Amino acid sequence: MIERQPEPELMDSLAQVDAYASADFVASDQAFVERLLARLQPLPDSGALLDLGCGPASISIHAARLMPGWEITALDAGPNMLAQARRNLAQAPAALRARVHLQQAHLPAHALTRRFAVIISNSLLHHLPDPAVLWQSVRELADAGTMLQIMDLFRPHSAQQLEQLVATYAGDAPDLLQQDFRNSLRAAYTVAEIREQLLAAGLGHLQVATISDRHVEISGRR
Ligand SMILES: C[S@@+](CC[C@H](N)C(=O)[O-])C[C@H]1O[C@@H](n2cnc3c(N)ncnc32)[C@H](O)[C@@H]1O
Repeated sequence: MIERQPEPELMDSLAQVDAYASADFVASDQAFVERLLARLQPLPDSGALLDLGCGPASISIHAARLMPGWEITALDAGPNMLAQARRNLAQAPAALRARVHLQQAHLPAHALTRRFAVIISNSLLHHLPDPAVLWQSVRELADAGTMLQIMDLFRPHSAQQLEQLVATYAGDAPDLLQQDFRNSLRAAYTVAEIREQLLAAGLGHLQVATISDRHVEISGRR
C-alpha cells in the first residue's frame, strides 16, 4: 500500500486553473449527473442543490441544464477557479445563469445556514488535509432526507498501479495535468479510509461503491 501524500488544498494558480479548465471531463461530468438523476427519480419540479468544491462549475452547469426549476449553489474556495466558473457560466442561456449561484467559501463554512435537498461533490475530498471537513459540512448543510452523491479518486495499492493509471488516463495530457493527476492519486484516500471517515462522522449508513478503476462514490440519504 502506498502512503498518502497530501497535495495543496486549493487549485488556484492561474496555470492550474487553465490546465484544469481545458481538460476534457465532459463524459465523466455527464455520467456523474446521470447517476444523480437516476437516484432522484421522479425528479421534483424544484429544489436546491449544493456542489461542494465546484471548480469550474461544469457539473453544476450540466445539472442545471437537466434539472429545470432547481436552484444550484456552486461553492469553491479558490477565487481564480471561481472566475473560471463565472466565464463558463457566462456562456449559458440567461435563464440557466439565473439559477446557478457561485459562492466563494472555504469549508468548513459554518456561516452557511441554508439546507439543501441535494449535495454533490466531485474530487474535493482528496484535497482536504482533514477529510472530516467534508463529512462535517455535509451534516451541517443537509436535512434528514437530503440526497448525497460524492465522488473521488481512491489511492491505488502500488506505485506501479498508480503509474499505469496515469499512463492510461493522462498519457496524452499536458505535463501539468499529468502531474496533477499523479498527485491527486497519491493524495486520495483508500476506500477503507473513506469507510472509517464515514463511521466517525455518523454517516456509516451511506453506500460506498467503487465505480471505476480509480473512482469511488459515496451516496445515499442523510
Ligand atoms: C479537483 S477540483 C474539482 C472541481 C470540480 N468539482 C470538478 O469536478 O471538476 C477541487 C476543488 O476543490 C476546491 N477546494 C479545495 N478545498 C476546499 C475547501 N476547503 N473549501 C472549498 N473548496 C475547496 C479547490 O479550490 C478546487 O477547485
